[in-house]
Amino acid sequence: MTTLRDTLRARLALERACGADLLPVPRAALARRPPAAPIQTSVRPGAPPSDRSPSRSGGTPAASKAGVPVSPALQVSVDPVKAAALAALETRAKACRLCRLCETRTQVVFGTGNPDADICLVGEAPGEDEDRLGEPFVGRAGQLLNQILSEAGLRRADVYICNVVKCRPSVLENGRRRNRPPEPEEVVRCQPYLRDQLALVRPRVIGAMGKFAVTTLLRVDAPMGQVRGRFQTRDGVPVMPTYHPAYLLRTPGDIGIVREDLKKIVAKVAEMKSKG
Ligand code: URA
Repeated sequence: MTTLRDTLRARLALERACGADLLPVPRAALARRPPAAPIQTSVRPGAPPSDRSPSRSGGTPAASKAGVPVSPALQVSVDPVKAAALAALETRAKACRLCRLCETRTQVVFGTGNPDADICLVGEAPGEDEDRLGEPFVGRAGQLLNQILSEAGLRRADVYICNVVKCRPSVLENGRRRNRPPEPEEVVRCQPYLRDQLALVRPRVIGAMGKFAVTTLLRVDAPMGQVRGRFQTRDGVPVMPTYHPAYLLRTPGDIGIVREDLKKIVAKVAEMKSKG
């Protein structure tokens, strides 16, 4: 039986063989620049997810969707240079044919949210809904994520959301495609996109949601129950490992745990900002 440890070992070996220049990104690349002047735009309540996404529109949010006030420490502005660089990276990703997922994807699901966000949340890979709509976390797991974000005083537009793998991993079964976890090679091939994405967004804090994000960002091979809830630092950037929303759909009793992990992220950002 192939264990997760075997899979991770295989992935690390493959990374070495490929000579991939992977995370962590150099500290200098992650050093935050002073924010650009804010671009004010309105966010239409009830608009479809892509319309709410400042990655396409920019924004300075003041309150979460559920009316929970957003901490001023988390209000963000959009740097147009950064937004343009991210758009260029997205264009490159959209033409990517580095792994076989390009043969079955409907579209590349690059990322969404505020390019100048203090918080970046990283998931695993797009599922069927994301593949169809072109935006991360828009299916059931995404709805749950939105709810937990709101409970933590955040909304989608306050954060930047992306996945380790940008195309839907799927398998054809009985004439129907179903989601599957990414293969090690797919993770490796996609890593330059995540690396560059994080280097451009330069979040103050990263939330690693689920095993794939944790192992990719932190190279930690331990059960989620052991690593979640405590910051680890990667090249000066605090990374909070937490459970994946899809896991929470199966284990709703742990939703509160992720809410607390997100609150720790919020508090960490406020603390970092207070120190300048
Ligand atoms: N699960 C993920 O990890 N990412 C998505 O975008 C959707 C579901």
